[in-house]
Amino acid sequence: MKQTELNDIEEISIPKISDPDGRGNLAVIENNILQYKIKRVYYLYDIPSDATRGGHAHINLRQSLIALSGSFDVVLDDGKERKTITLNKPNKALLIPTGIWRELENFSSGAVCLVLASEVYDEADYIRGYEDFKLFKNT
Ligand code: TYD
Repeated sequence: MKQTELNDIEEISIPKISDPDGRGNLAVIENNILQYKIKRVYYLYDIPSDATRGGHAHINLRQSLIALSGSFDVVLDDGKERKTITLNKPNKALLIPTGIWRELENFSSGAVCLVLASEVYDEADYIRGYEDFKLFKNT
């Protein structure tokens, strides 16, 4: 399997249709803009501001995160380097490939994180320990 790195993480602009009569925006995900077929949709909400979500990597699953409302930070780690991306726009998707450790933190009040996943839920696809992740990445 290809060893993914931070460079493989993409921020994708979701096409937005602004209403000409000032009735707001509509964003649409179609035409494979996420590069995979969506098999599962879930969302995180009512997250306390001091909570951390994530804290794992996936072996086969790819997923895209969208801040449907509010904002939060995504800490990304490829076993060698770390970077933090703040999500706060409903028309931006953060596409996280396989083999990237992620932690979600600093949720604003009312934040909603939509997750569009390439696979159905499978606990066996998770790497939940950071030391196991380092072994998996051989770093
Ligand atoms: P987890 O993926 O660890 O959440 P987060 O990364 O946001 O902290 O999932 C939390 C719990 O929910 C865990 O017990 C697995 C369960 N779960 C499902 O049953 N189905 C799902 O689709 C997801 C994403 C989680």
